[in-house]
Amino acid sequence: MKVLVVGGGGREHALIRKIKESPKVTSVACCPGNGGISYDAVCYSVSATDIDGVVSLAKEIKADFVVVAPDDPLALGMVDALNEAGFASFGPVAAAAIIESSKVFSKNLMLKYGIPTAEYKVFSNPDDAVAYIRDKNEFPTVIKADGLALGKGVIIAETLADAEKGIYEIMEDKIFGESGNSVVVEEFLTGPEVSVLAFTDGKCVKPMVSSMDHKRALDGDKGLNTGGMGTVSPNPYYTDKIAEECMEKIFLPTINAMNEEGRTFKGCLYFGLMLTPKGPKVIEYNCRFGDPETQVVLPRLKTDIMDIFYAICNETLSELDIEWSDEACACVVLASGGYPKSYPKGLEITGLEHGQTEGVTVYHAGTALKEGKLVTSGGRVLGVTALGSDLKAALEKAYAAADKIDFENKHFRHDIGKRALEALK
Ligand code: AMP
Ligand code: GLY
Repeated sequence: MKVLVVGGGGREHALIRKIKESPKVTSVACCPGNGGISYDAVCYSVSATDIDGVVSLAKEIKADFVVVAPDDPLALGMVDALNEAGFASFGPVAAAAIIESSKVFSKNLMLKYGIPTAEYKVFSNPDDAVAYIRDKNEFPTVIKADGLALGKGVIIAETLADAEKGIYEIMEDKIFGESGNSVVVEEFLTGPEVSVLAFTDGKCVKPMVSSMDHKRALDGDKGLNTGGMGTVSPNPYYTDKIAEECMEKIFLPTINAMNEEGRTFKGCLYFGLMLTPKGPKVIEYNCRFGDPETQVVLPRLKTDIMDIFYAICNETLSELDIEWSDEACACVVLASGGYPKSYPKGLEITGLEHGQTEGVTVYHAGTALKEGKLVTSGGRVLGVTALGSDLKAALEKAYAAADKIDFENKHFRHDIGKRALEALK
């Protein structure tokens, strides 16, 4: 069968590599893909948000299955359109993708169904939001734009002045566009963060192995929030006992709540959790595979991913046993100097052969082919990923390769997995 993957980052590259392991798959196509992905899949220059374009492409190449990976096309209803055109596909319909595309929706859902999350209030007027924060006088406080904002729509304000600046930037200057028509102001929570991606067909939910993201740009969790600078799996803070508690209080209630609302979720539901002193709470939901969580989770998957995708389509996921390897996995993101702000593109990448060591995989996030050479083309450029017998071994392998792959102004964090290793001591 022929599979089409929509998207073009490191997550999509990891999905494609796993899909290619399936004996059922004869070829993989990707749109738009990127320079590195083009070695694994036939890339077509159709934008990931072009719904008509993707449906036409699926028809043209006679795709048997379509995987929609990024948030925007899911929120725009790409899976609805593909289903209507008769294509089997992976990803939630727009009515369910709203769990990520509207923070107001997800916070109200959690409140209504008693799913643990930070206390919050919603505002559509900036003056009211500021007045509320002034009265409450508890800092830090957290401000979130309602809509999609490339993972950058969250402000942790340490002072009233910071909060005020953030609110006016989001709601009046519209730095995130229409996403900032309303904001959620919420309580600041503390504790280790865990990412749990889960397969669900709307009837049952099967969590994947846990992971830990590193969202800030600089070592020691300093600097700006990014899409994610590196990940490890498993996350040692996520014990079996906590996993059980999450299943009972968060995962199943969320699936049931979406069904109750007439918004059955089928696909990969991402639970961004914080393990607070008062128990696990939901920081955010994503309606898709995380990036770069996917890069450390999927290498540990032993079951044929196409079997999982079909079981979700056919609502038979409960009958499938999903197996995982006991190895640990680490991903170090090599980013363009300047990311998440502005950065140059088109810089030649060297040393990629060092990513071809046993157990190491380099997933391409922002690369392009220029005159036969791989060059940088995005903020996050590569995800240098390694499997190991334990986390320490995986990290050593990933960093050894990350050191040898180079481009001008390469930036990466040197402390991916540090907190996880400390937790294991
Ligand atoms: P989000 O885009 O919602 O995942 O938020 C980005 C990051 O901001 C999270 O990974 C957390 O580190 C932090 N964050 C979000 N909400 C809260 C909160 N209520 N309390 C503390 N930190 C938060
Ligand atoms: N790594 C976080 C995300 O995919 O949103």
